[in-house]
Amino acid sequence: MSTPQPNAIRHYLQFTDLSADEYAHLFARAAEIKRKFKAYEKYHPLADRTLAMIFEKASTRTRVSFEAGMYQLGGSVVHLTTGDSQLGRSEPIEDSARVISRMTDLVMIRTYGQDKIDRFAAHSRVPVINGLTNEFHPCQILADIFTFIEHRGSIQGKVVAWVGDGNNMANTWLQAAELLGFTVHLSTPSGYEVNESVAALKGTGNFKVFNDPLEACRGADLVTTDVWTSMGYEAENEARKKAFANWCVDEAMMQVAKPDALFMHCLPAHRGEEVSAEVIDGPQSVVWDEAENRMHVQKALMEFLLLGRVNA
Ligand code: CP
Ligand code: NVA
Repeated sequence: MSTPQPNAIRHYLQFTDLSADEYAHLFARAAEIKRKFKAYEKYHPLADRTLAMIFEKASTRTRVSFEAGMYQLGGSVVHLTTGDSQLGRSEPIEDSARVISRMTDLVMIRTYGQDKIDRFAAHSRVPVINGLTNEFHPCQILADIFTFIEHRGSIQGKVVAWVGDGNNMANTWLQAAELLGFTVHLSTPSGYEVNESVAALKGTGNFKVFNDPLEACRGADLVTTDVWTSMGYEAENEARKKAFANWCVDEAMMQVAKPDALFMHCLPAHRGEEVSAEVIDGPQSVVWDEAENRMHVQKALMEFLLLGRVNA
């Protein structure tokens, strides 16, 4: 990735859209922006800037973190959904991109196929951020790694155990592992494996596959999971409940991980399905810090995409 030029449009559509050096900058900025927030220090670098948020799927954390975050940076927000805009009445995504990006400074989209956000970005005059697609959830992994760093220091060389679906979160963890130099232990039920071509991995050997989820957790620094059925896959719910029955992160799995291992979950969670209540509500769980950190890292991301490297 080349050094960004002033005013060059940078999108954040996949984890690989930023370099390791840029992530180091973002994590430092997120820490400083979080400090300012906790101290009620006014910080309005995005005054007069507008963020458009487009949701084609439900959200709690992504909506609140982007909306509150943008206001806290001095900007404002426009919120659109498929149901209340022409997006739900078949206006071409390219036309929507042309129009929305003439009136706003930044766009966040949560949608289905990655091709849709790619097409939007290709016709946008302003930076576009992926707020979750079927394939990727880069803002979440940004928050997860920032949370790991806050609690344990650098993630480089560490082991992250992924227990569950080979979904958007799993794909993004794999991209992050290659870029930032850690290893993912992947355990998914048969038929729900990661499709390696989606993540377009370079083959640097940053993940290992385990049939047994307990073995994936052995020696891990971080154990993480996600819902059995992601948004858009609800028709498969009953089949997934059967296939995923043994992929519940429980105390036995946490016990074979490192003694100081953390537990994360992007939320929303289903206690008794992908994670036991004892684990998610237990002492190794950092899920509330993880959720809060969505806002701090995304404020750093919006600052970077609109203003470049700031050191205020
Ligand atoms: N983790 C996450 O993206 O949550 P929401 O679906 O509530 O935005
Ligand atoms: N994999 C989940 C993440 C939700 C934040 C989904 O796509 O529904």
